[in-house]
Parts: sequence; C-alpha cells; structure tokens
Amino acid sequence: MADSFDFTTIHKPVLLDECVALVAPALDAPNSVVVDCTLGLAGHATAFLKAAPNAHLIGIDRDSEALAMASERIQQAGLSSRFTPAHAAFDGFDEVLERNGIEQIDVAFMDLGLSSLQIDEVDRGFSYSHDAPLDMRMDVSQELDAAMVLSQYGEDDLVRIFREYGQERFARPIARAIVRRRVVEPITTSGQLDRLVDQVVPKSHRGKGNPAKRIFQALRIEVNGELDKLAATLPQIVNRLKPGGRLVVESYHSLEDRTVKTFMAQGLKVDAPADLPVVPKDAEPFLKDLTHGAVKADEAEITHNPRSASVRLRAVELVRPVPERWRTRFKASSDSAVARKERLGRLNRMEHANYVGGNPGTMRRDDMRATSARRQRESRQ
Ligand SMILES: C[S@@+](CC[C@H](N)C(=O)[O-])C[C@H]1O[C@@H](n2cnc3c(N)ncnc32)[C@H](O)[C@@H]1O
Repeated sequence: MADSFDFTTIHKPVLLDECVALVAPALDAPNSVVVDCTLGLAGHATAFLKAAPNAHLIGIDRDSEALAMASERIQQAGLSSRFTPAHAAFDGFDEVLERNGIEQIDVAFMDLGLSSLQIDEVDRGFSYSHDAPLDMRMDVSQELDAAMVLSQYGEDDLVRIFREYGQERFARPIARAIVRRRVVEPITTSGQLDRLVDQVVPKSHRGKGNPAKRIFQALRIEVNGELDKLAATLPQIVNRLKPGGRLVVESYHSLEDRTVKTFMAQGLKVDAPADLPVVPKDAEPFLKDLTHGAVKADEAEITHNPRSASVRLRAVELVRPVPERWRTRFKASSDSAVARKERLGRLNRMEHANYVGGNPGTMRRDDMRATSARRQRESRQ
C-alpha cells in the first residue's frame, strides 16, 4: 500500500471531533488504555492516539481485512508503538484484555455496524443494490452466512428475525414465500431476495426506499449476532472501567441505540425505591451522562458523509466503582446474552438437520456454493 494512501477515501469516521472530545480527557494519565471495540479502518483510533499521547490503544475487529488495513494506517501515522490489534468479536472483550494482561481500562469506544469498506465490497452481499452471493459475514471465517439462514431456518424463526431485527410488517408472508421458493430453487443471491420481497410486499404499503431494506438489515443482524454481542459486551466493558473511565458508543439503527440506552440507564438512576426519605450512598447512580441523551450529526456532516444521518452517539462516565451487586448482575447478563446466542444457534441448526433430512428439494451448503459460483460465472460472461 502506498505511503500516502488516504484512508478517508474509503471510510469517513462519523462525529470524529465529538468522539475525540469525549475520549481524550479520560486518557491523560501515563499508560492509560483505550479499547476501540470496532477498529474498522482506524479513523477514530488514529485520532484518539494523536489526541492522547499517553494512551495505548487496543483495537478489536472481527474483520481481518479491516484489521490489516487499520494496522497499516496506524503504522503510517507513526503510532504503532502504542497500538495492539486484536482479531476477535467484541463480546470476547474480557478475553482480549486477559490475553494482554490488562485488568482495567480508561475508555471503551464502539462505532457499531459496517465500515464503508464492507458495504462497498459488493461480493460480501451486504447491499441490496448489487446482485451478489448472500454472504453478509463480517468475519469471513465464521460458518453461518445469509444464504444459510434463508435455506436452513424454519418459517417461524425467519418471521422472528424479520420482525425483531427488521421491524418488518410483512414478516410472515415474506418468510412463507422464502420457504416455498427454496424448495424449488435455493435463494443464494441478493438479487433473488430483492425480487422475492418485491413480489410479496404490496405496492400500496411501501414506504420510502427499497422494500427489501429491512429484510437485509434483519439478516445482517442475525448472521453477525449483532444485538446479542452488543448486549453481552456492554456489561463486560463497564465492569472493567476505572472510576473516571468512559464508555462512548455510536449506533446506527434504533435497535442498537435502544440496547445501548437501556444498558446505560441502569447506572444513571438511583437504585432504590422512590419513596425512601434518604438515598443510601450505595444506591446513588454510578454513571454520569456525558451527552445528555443522544448526539446526532448536523446537516453539514450528513451532506459530506451520508452514513452519519442515522448516528446516535451516547457516552457515560463511571463516577465511582461499580457497586458489587451491579458487578454481579452485569456478569450474569453478559453470560446470559452469550448463552442465548448459543442456544438459538443450536436450535436453528437442529431445525436445519430436520429440514434437510425431510425435503428432497433442499440443497446442501456445498451445492448452494456451487450454484452461486456458477451463477456468478454466468453473470460475468
Ligand atoms: C463502522 S466500522 C468502524 C469504523 C472506524 N471507527 C473508523 O473510523 O475507521 C465498524 C467496524 O466494527 C466491526 N465490527 C462490527 N461488529 C463487530 C463485533 N461484534 N466484533 C468486532 N468487530 C465488529 C466491523 O467489522 C467494522 O470494521
């Protein structure tokens, strides 16, 4: 990669100045530690390292390609002596810290969702505007991809994810159409899915934009376990913050933002019945709201970087050590979010085993891959 490569041509960091202003004050002390849980192309990370010369940054990303480019960028900026990359999903937060011998941290930052690199890589199938194999994995070493979800999940599970993660009104008819279609031919490309949704959603009930948008969002959230991972990570982070430490999160859709807001609210309120005459010290809030709700991008930023249109930035500071009962609750809620993800994965796989066994029209994964590769070859000819 050329020395002068401008990474901002690939991905523009959202609300960069606001994030630096929230992160840097907590990184004054020598050997302070900031964890960027969504390193991406290190747009934010590079700015944090420049603004906080005493800080060491651990950069987590599950996408190894992003991680390699971020490392290159940080090296080009002459900052690599204060940088440690970690290839992991962020719900492996505790493990990453343990591997690096770190007990407590000063700041954790999350810039959720996809980088423009991932969105623009047409063959990863994140976008409904390009016909590509339905992949959608942020970590390409994981097995489950979007085509597998469509071929393997039962109708009820498809309805659940379309409703829960896509807030899709026509979840049932779309799921039913998928289950009927896949017996005839596997649904392996974004174009097939786009056309199918277009056939199902009545023209009279469409809002702005592509009617398949919510289905693509739901699939992406399911494939990458996005909400469960987020719910499992936030408690791990707060349990590792030093007093005065900060958690700064940028979300891009309402489900993520609700998860973040609900989590933060637990530490922002008095933990005692409202009619107690005096609030015991231990029941006082242990978090302080630094953003007073959510910060949004202004018109100028949205014009310059349309991805910022949906951002919601929230930040809190730990004002005293996490009370022991909250520490225990956080540990339990993180464990149960991980367990839920594993349980759902197991159920879906069991359903798949029954489904493949009972349906002569169903193709197995290798066949699907072969078909998808053949389609791609044909479309290039
Ligand atoms: C919006 S980008 C971050 C961009 C970055 N802030 C920058 O300025 O270059 C989000 C990144 O988070 C990563 N990511 C999303 N979910 C993740 C997870 N559960 N664990 C680890 N990385 C994740 C994606 O692979 C992507 O590279």
